[in-house]
Amino acid sequence: TGYITIDSGYKNTGATKSAITFLDGELGILRYRGYSIEELAEKASFLEVAYLLIYGELPTAEQYATFENSIKMHTIVNEDMRKIFEGFPVNAHPMGVLSAMVCAMSAFYTGDKSGSDELNIIRLMAKMPSMATWSYKKSQGHPVNYPNNSLDYCSNFLNMMFALPVAPYQVDPVVSAALNKLLILHADHEQNCSTSTVRLVGSSHASLYASISAGINALSGPLHGGANQEVIEMLEAIKADGGDTAKYIAMAKDKNSGFRLMGFGHRVYKNFDPRARIIKKAADDVLAALGINDPVLKIASELEAAALSDEYFVARKLYPNVDFYSGIIYRALGIPTDMFTVMFAIGRLPGWIAQWKEMKANKEPIGRPRQVYVGATPREYVSMDQR
Ligand code: CMC
Repeated sequence: TGYITIDSGYKNTGATKSAITFLDGELGILRYRGYSIEELAEKASFLEVAYLLIYGELPTAEQYATFENSIKMHTIVNEDMRKIFEGFPVNAHPMGVLSAMVCAMSAFYTGDKSGSDELNIIRLMAKMPSMATWSYKKSQGHPVNYPNNSLDYCSNFLNMMFALPVAPYQVDPVVSAALNKLLILHADHEQNCSTSTVRLVGSSHASLYASISAGINALSGPLHGGANQEVIEMLEAIKADGGDTAKYIAMAKDKNSGFRLMGFGHRVYKNFDPRARIIKKAADDVLAALGINDPVLKIASELEAAALSDEYFVARKLYPNVDFYSGIIYRALGIPTDMFTVMFAIGRLPGWIAQWKEMKANKEPIGRPRQVYVGATPREYVSMDQR
């Protein structure tokens, strides 16, 4: 096995060629299909970006209308899927529920007649937000809302989350614009853990639903998308502990503490995470526009300033990542903490789909890493009574 090199965590191993997302970790550059993340976050709608990622070009007005309409035509979820959903305990984590529901879609929606995946792509884009809101409604003991096709993608999601049958609900344009920006910033990030998972599962020719469901599970971990929930929980814990940020910085530096500063560090970005810069500014804007004074924002800024001047963090190039400030915005929008990673999943969905499509179009072989065996040398079987 001398020819096998081990690269734990694939730190220096390219698994594929890709034409979707460009990322320069040294310079802090992120582009989807050549368009800068800064420009897309400022000017585009999430569905436009989804189209760009999935089909390769920004849509014309006609292509956009067709895409948006076909998504609207599929927002309703088969009522029998609700019966599956009803069986989950009320305190189940929404990420586990979402991955199970997406996996269950393979039993209800079995592809289009031409055998292509186009319809399943639309179904996922259309139904995942609907199903995500069920978890929140159940946690509140409220009836679920059906989608409203007169609303745009983000407003429809917010309406399903927050409207109640007893009172009119008007989507705040500040809230829906902030959500639009957050979803765009999360829409793709080349070969990260969940995307690589989607491609690896798909490489065995498993279905799109099975692959995306696996991606949701990969995203749920605290070192990946799950970090956005952990960040707010950490900031809350620091606040409850008297706001002593120095204590937590010291803990993060102590390798025996088992504590990491959540929302800091990134495998690829070594100077700054361009998404974090945009999100930090958006957080300030959203809180100001909504007139919210969130005390954890102060703790977050203190932590950032202290970490960035501390030798430990400087030497290891640990900067705030995308997850550090996103939770503060989600909270301001009224999204509960345990739904933060679900929001990430809704944003990342078009990226996963685009990468899955590319993997299929390129006819990539089944993903099958090798290993270096370090176990026992050959030995004789010993019968149980002799052991
Ligand atoms: N707090 C304290 N020390 C850290 C942290 C942190 N957040 N992150 C990395 N380090 C240290 C680590 O202990 C190691 O030190 P040493 O060289 O002395 O052994 C060094 O920095 C390099 O860390 P690593 O774990 O080898 O780096 P990695 O590329 O394998 O991990 C990471 C990247 C993002 C998993 C890691 O930085 C981390 O655990 N961060 C906290 C969780 C987090 O915020 N995740 C979200 C990532 S961005 C969005 C996403 O993917 O969803």
